[in-house]
Amino acid sequence: MLPHMRTDHHIEFFGCAGDYAALSVPMLDRTASVLASGQVLQGRYVEQVEARVAALAGRRHAVAVGSGTDALFFALICSGIGPGDEVLVPAVSFVASASAIVRAGAVPVFVDIGPDIGIDLAVAQRLVTPNTRALLHVHLFGAMTDPAALERFATSNGILLIEDYAQSFGARYGSRAAGSIGKVSATSFDPTKVIGAPGSGGALVTDDPEIAARARRLRLHGKSGNDFIELGYNSQMPSLTAAIIDLKLDHHDSWSRRRRAVAERYKDGLAGTPVTLPPVDPQVTHIWHKFVILWDRRDALAAALQAAGIPTRIHYHQPLDREPMFHAVRKADASPAATEYCGRTLSLPIHSHLSDHDVDQVIAAVRGFFA
Ligand SMILES: Cc1ncc(COP(=O)(O)O)c(C=O)c1O
Repeated sequence: MLPHMRTDHHIEFFGCAGDYAALSVPMLDRTASVLASGQVLQGRYVEQVEARVAALAGRRHAVAVGSGTDALFFALICSGIGPGDEVLVPAVSFVASASAIVRAGAVPVFVDIGPDIGIDLAVAQRLVTPNTRALLHVHLFGAMTDPAALERFATSNGILLIEDYAQSFGARYGSRAAGSIGKVSATSFDPTKVIGAPGSGGALVTDDPEIAARARRLRLHGKSGNDFIELGYNSQMPSLTAAIIDLKLDHHDSWSRRRRAVAERYKDGLAGTPVTLPPVDPQVTHIWHKFVILWDRRDALAAALQAAGIPTRIHYHQPLDREPMFHAVRKADASPAATEYCGRTLSLPIHSHLSDHDVDQVIAAVRGFFA
């Protein structure tokens, strides 16, 4: 990489600072109004976010909580998952998809991936035992797995389907929205997400009123009426967080369109280079939470991009079953496809505030590496 090929300005990997630059006046207005109101937990913005998140997923209920991780944990325990249960989970995901299972007292059973980096249901079938209670499916990177295939798998095995759509908030498969599949679904408003909170935040969505009511209890110390009826947690979404999420939701459609345009520009610009992309089912309306490319000498490419001033990340370095945290449940060489994927993956910057010029600079740096 020649020195003159360094980018001429700083390219952000995530869009959070760009969101603020675009919306600083209304964000600060809302911040002032929430603080002035004195109500900084629960309240109208939390209710508004819950209504909008439920509507986007086509669900009856949404419960806002302190993080996506808590949303997953509550989704599991409100579905009755607990000690002695096995839960199938893809071997490639963020750690919270599997740690929530351990936190619920159950055992994560890691399932290898298919070419689209989603779960391989044929492998999952071989891992079903009499103790299998659920499939916790993750729609990764902004794409979605065929809901009908997931539902068939769950129904034919007599197990629950729980959806982690932290990375695919707003994605669709045909007419089916992410968050609409299975008994209960959990999402995240972590600052790196498509709708990023100023801090942590998450929500679970469901059509089941009992699951929703229990999740509301669990987020507030097990409180029902004036009584504390079960062991609960303190996992509330701050009102300020909800006010900012609500504001960002106003821009969700236009920001998503821009993400798609950025992804298309990358795809066109990288055509003819040795890098490939994970295949995407044509039924998927991708939300491009991450833009993942695959290439054998990924580390050399990442180093060259860094020298050119372009930030990259790796999602993820190793399959979940290799994480020391899950050592006790690891099976030898259980996920060869995931292992191969993790050695070849590299994520390029993607968010709605990248200009065409930014994207062209990234493309030029990748092409320059191969020239
Ligand atoms: C797939 C997936 N599941 C769960 C989470 C956990 O969400 P949070 O960071 O809000 O706890 C994240 C993101 O951080 C994620 O990417």
